[in-house]
Amino acid sequence: MDRFEGKSVIVTGAASGFGTAIAEKFANEGASVVCADLNLLGATGVADSLPGAIPFEIDVADEAQNKAMIQAAVDHFGKIDVLCCNAGVPHRGNYMIRMPVEDFDRMWAINVRSIFLAVRAAIPHMPEGSSIISTASIGGKRPRAGLVPYNASKAAVINLTQGMAVEMAPKIRVNCVCPVSAATNFDFQSMGQRDLPEEMEKKVIDGIPMARRATPEDVADAYAFLASDEAKFLTGVALDVDGGRSIQ
Ligand SMILES: NC(=O)c1ccc[n+]([C@@H]2O[C@H](COP(=O)([O-])OP(=O)(O)OC[C@H]3O[C@@H](n4cnc5c(N)ncnc54)[C@H](O)[C@@H]3O)[C@@H](O)[C@H]2O)c1
Repeated sequence: MDRFEGKSVIVTGAASGFGTAIAEKFANEGASVVCADLNLLGATGVADSLPGAIPFEIDVADEAQNKAMIQAAVDHFGKIDVLCCNAGVPHRGNYMIRMPVEDFDRMWAINVRSIFLAVRAAIPHMPEGSSIISTASIGGKRPRAGLVPYNASKAAVINLTQGMAVEMAPKIRVNCVCPVSAATNFDFQSMGQRDLPEEMEKKVIDGIPMARRATPEDVADAYAFLASDEAKFLTGVALDVDGGRSIQ
């Protein structure tokens, strides 16, 4: 399937987990992809394995580096059709009272400020019909004890998505995905670790009607759908990729 032939796509956090699967999905469906990540070695490995992809080293929290990433995409591919703001981090320590203040600021800069920076730099290069997609979390809709600052950052991603959708319509669609826990390299003490302790894995899965955690491919499929023509009337959507977790 070549749904994205001739399209130019940027994926942040492309060196691991969801970002790698998103980059693979778009590249395998015909897009030229900028694989952007703090981990240049990882991003290069992913880009080298994909047709027409290039790596880019970025700290998404930094304004100048966002401008440079957008410029690199424009220099190589002439425009940006899909901007995927996927990079994100958890925080050390579950309970906010024990969380270092610097962790809060750094997490907020990576999870929220980064989207503000990337979008502002990208907008002049995004044609009519292009789209912006971010990775939020089901935690952004349902606060839970133990992950309060992280969940608040993801609630901000959802709100940013909805606000930008209104502001940028009808030229650009803006959506986000809200995944449930997945086995990536995400270093959550209680949620996204690749290998959860058996008892915790069972507890997580018991709360998911589809009886498994999310996979990077589940998230990449949702990204591709939201970027595709099939979603041409969808904007401001925060799409749960959660096997029904949010129902309960
Ligand atoms: N894994 C989960 O359970 C889960 C659930 C819901 C939402 N999410 C969200 O999904 C997104 C992707 O997470 P993942 O699970 O694939 O994790 P991951 O740790 O496997 O991948 C995250 C990638 O982001 C990169 N990154 C981190 N900080 C960066 C920075 N400052 N600049 C550029 N790149 C940076 C890392 O190097 C890594 O390659 C995040 O936004 C996360 O909050 C994850």
